[in-house]
Formats: sequence, structure tokens, C-alpha cells
Amino acid sequence: EKPFINALKGKTHTNPPMWLMRQAGRYLEEYMAIRRSVSGFLELCYTPELAHEVTMQPIRRFGFDAAILFSDILVVPDALGQEVTFVQGEGPKLKPIRSAAELTNFNEAWLHQRLEPVYETIRRIRKDLDETYPDTALIGFAGAPWTVATYVVEGSSSKDFANTKSWAYQDPQGFQKLIDILTSSTTDYLLAQIENGVEAVQIFDSWSGVLAENEFRKFCLKPAKKITKAIKEKYPDIPVIGFPRGAGLMYPNYVEETGVDCVGLDTTVPTGWAKENLADKVCVQGNLDPQILLAGGEELDKAVKNILTDLSGQPFVFNLGHGIIKETPVSHVERLVDLVRGRV
Ligand code: CP3
Repeated sequence: EKPFINALKGKTHTNPPMWLMRQAGRYLEEYMAIRRSVSGFLELCYTPELAHEVTMQPIRRFGFDAAILFSDILVVPDALGQEVTFVQGEGPKLKPIRSAAELTNFNEAWLHQRLEPVYETIRRIRKDLDETYPDTALIGFAGAPWTVATYVVEGSSSKDFANTKSWAYQDPQGFQKLIDILTSSTTDYLLAQIENGVEAVQIFDSWSGVLAENEFRKFCLKPAKKITKAIKEKYPDIPVIGFPRGAGLMYPNYVEETGVDCVGLDTTVPTGWAKENLADKVCVQGNLDPQILLAGGEELDKAVKNILTDLSGQPFVFNLGHGIIKETPVSHVERLVDLVRGRV
């Protein structure tokens, strides 16, 4: 009966349900207070009491229709044995894995043991939501294999993905082994999240937009299809959201071939086009430019109204086109909520 879950399953609402990617985070002073109390970012992800607390912060403030588990996509390589650290102001750091021979460093047997604190976090959030916010759904998530692979191979954030692409193009079979390991561990991880209480899952493919068609099909589309199929086989009732950021002209293929229930639109996807080409097949989610939310003012009002006009007549979840920017004023988020709820 939760509006967010109903939309994912095909229901249309006059005022669509909403949540924001990266809704828990550094734009909230209450998040910063907790962040300062731990030494590393992953410590926050692996401490159930704190991860539960920061998951709830945006729900208490803004009353979104969904809470998203507070964690990170890089807990998967971390749990497989490739240690991940976050350096202040620089982002993630990993010891790069750049050949099939080095894949022996990964150990899938460690996965659930290392991720048990995340499952404990899920159980705590779910109990809290059931008691306090019964209409709010809990979203679990994981990074898509390709996006996680870029961090595994580059060892950090990247602009050109040169090492990942050169491995993928020079040794496609070896690189496929990495994708396969990440696909199976991501599947196991998402199934465990569902077993512990998440009600929908989102697969973040933040870097799917940088591949040529053939590689997009092999390394983004196919793994998303496999993961979705495995979830549907075991939990047919749990909706799957795919977010192939930057997929551009491949969005319709992604929707038709993966079997996701909902597709996340990045900021560049024209909403009128999405209405014509995607919305008859799946629920769509998106896609306000986070920079417009940061800017605020009249342009924010106009952009939100345009999205609502184009997409509210069909199954739709309001969201950003990418994660919220840390400098975003809380007052702009409050204005956004009022606009989407039809209160202004
Ligand atoms: O949406 C939510 O509120 C849930 C939490 C969440 C985080 N990361 C928390 C986080 C989610 C869903 C993610 C996903 C994620 N993580 C993605 C996919 C989505 C996207 O934004 O493209 C990616 C690529 C990552 C990897 C990652 N995590 C990077 C590159 C960084 C550093 C860059 C930065 O913004 O600092 C992170 C760190 C991170 N993940 C933070 C948060 C709140 C900031 C760390 C801190 O507080 O010190």
C-alpha cells in the first residue's frame, strides 16, 4: 500500500511519490555531526547504529516516500577483500586490480560475513520505519558491475576510465571474469538485503554512459538483466530500479531487455521523449538536475513543474537526475518537496 511501491508496480498518482538520490549526506548538518564522530566513511557504513540514524535523517526532515539504506556501492569490493578507504576531499582509494591473474585476490566467501553489519542496519531501519513511518518504503541498492569495476580497476574516481577500458577492449574474456564475479556477488548481496527487509532495490550504473554499444550490451545491459532475473526468480514481488546513467539512445534497449520495473532517468533525458518511449513500458524515475536544486529560485520552480507536467500522468517517481550536491541549501529541498506535493 505504500505510494512508492505502488508507483513501481504501475500505479499513477496525482502527486508522485518522491525521494532523492544521496538524500542522506553532507548537505545535512545532522549528517556532518555524525560523520565527524567517526574516523573513516566506511566505519559509518559498517556501524549499524549510526548508519540507521543517518538513513532516517532525511525522512524526519522532509518526509520522503522512501528511505535508502545508508551505505556505499564500494562495500562490495571491500567485502571481497580489496580494501577500500576514503580520503577526505579525494574520494575512494583502492589498490587497483588490472588483470585477470589478480582476480584471485577476490574471495566471495567473505562477502556476507563482512557485510553482516549492513544487514543489521537494514533490520533496524525497517523496524523503525514500520513503527514510526509506516507509509515510507525502504530501498536497498548496489552498484552495477561495470560501475564498480571502474573503481576496482582505476583504484579511484576517474575521468576517462583509461585502465578499465584498455583491459575491457584488449582482454574482453579476462575482463568478463571480473564482471562475472561482481555480478554474482552483487546478486547475492541484493538478495540478502531483501531477506533482511528492503522493499525495492536500485542498481546504480553511474558510468554506463561511457561505453560503446557492444560493450554497453556486454558489461551493463547483460549483468543488469542477470541480476534482475535472479531477484525476480526468488522475490517476484520486489521491484527493481535500474539507473543506467548516461545510457542515452540505449535507454529503450535497457528497459526492454533487462526487465527492470522502473528506470532512473539521468538529467539529460528529455522528459517528453521518456513519456513517449519508456513510460508505456515501465515506471520512470527522475530527473531534476541537481545543479538546479542547488541554484534554487524561479528556475527550480519551472524545472520541477515541467517534469511534473510531462511525467505525472503515468507511473512515476520524482527524483534528481543524479545525487544531491553537498552545498545544496536545505531550504531548496523544502521548496522542492512543497512543489512535488502540490502544496505551493
Ligand atoms: O542515496 C543515499 O543517501 C544512500 C547512500 C549512498 C552513498 N553513496 C553515500 C555516500 C549511495 C546510494 C551511494 C552510491 C554511490 N557511491 C555511487 C553511485 C551513485 C552516484 O553518485 O553516481 C557511487 C559512484 C559511489 C562511490 C563514491 N562514494 C564516491 C565516488 C564517493 C566520494 C565522492 C564524494 O561525494 O565524496 C563516495 C562517498 C560517499 N558515499 C559519501 C556519501 C554520503 C560522502 C562521504 C563522506 O561523507 O565523507
